[in-house]
Amino acid sequence: MWNSFFYKNQNTGAEDNKKIQENLEEIVVPEHIAVIMDGNGRWAKKQGRPRTYGHYMGAERLKEIVRYADAAGVKIISAYAFSTENWKRPITEVNYIMKLLDKYLTNELDTFMQNNVQLRFMGDKKALPEHIISRMNNAELCTKDNTGIILNLAINYGGRSEIINAIKSMTTDITNGRLTVNEINEENFGKYLYTAELPPPDLLIRTGGDQRVSNFMLWQIAYAEMWYTKAYWPDFTKELFYEALRSFSLRDRRFGGLNNK
Ligand code: IPE
Ligand code: IPE
Ligand code: MG
Repeated sequence: MWNSFFYKNQNTGAEDNKKIQENLEEIVVPEHIAVIMDGNGRWAKKQGRPRTYGHYMGAERLKEIVRYADAAGVKIISAYAFSTENWKRPITEVNYIMKLLDKYLTNELDTFMQNNVQLRFMGDKKALPEHIISRMNNAELCTKDNTGIILNLAINYGGRSEIINAIKSMTTDITNGRLTVNEINEENFGKYLYTAELPPPDLLIRTGGDQRVSNFMLWQIAYAEMWYTKAYWPDFTKELFYEALRSFSLRDRRFGGLNNK
């Protein structure tokens, strides 16, 4: 059984690969992809440039990947841009990332509108600089009626903090009589998370070579398929993206049950 499982899931023949890249509609495309865009700093260091340059190129890469994902039929991309733990970095790097975000949300808004992209954010906005919060609110408002791919950007996001905040809101609702303890279940709990209106990720991609989740979407990735690459985020090409899609398409998702094939 294990042999056949492995054979099926490791089938990476060149012929197969070519067919899928030429004909993406033949594969099972994930509805929601979560991406841990890691390796910007190491990518920059490799070319003797400051880490900030890696972040700049990383932001450029995200624009492209959103386009490829949209073209492939993906409905939602949740991208990890800044974690609750990233404040530990030198202030100059944090400030640069905030500046980049500010620019991204200003300069790219037209492109998002032209491409029918809807922007959403998840994370604790309160701790962010005032001008960034207003850019985020503005981008959400402007793109809210767009019907294309959803770009769900995680900024000052932490999975544990998201869960704690959900528990706090739930407790407030119980105290105020809006919810009873008996009504607490997985479905209700999900409604208190940033992703209340979104289905859980089907595929989790991490670049940069590390195989960990680093506090990303802890509740939501319960049954996500994982795919890792050693490539640093700025080197995450269309070909690698297709490779991730192809790998996903070959997975046998059983959700704890048995497959009926
Ligand atoms: C990911 O790249 C981007 C952020 C965490 C903001 P890194 O900055 O973590 O790059 P590496 O992992 O140090 O190379
Ligand atoms: C995860 O990368 C966070 C983002 C990509 C924004 P990190 O570089 O912060 O994660 P660790 O430190 O390697 O776990
Ligand atoms: Mg990193």
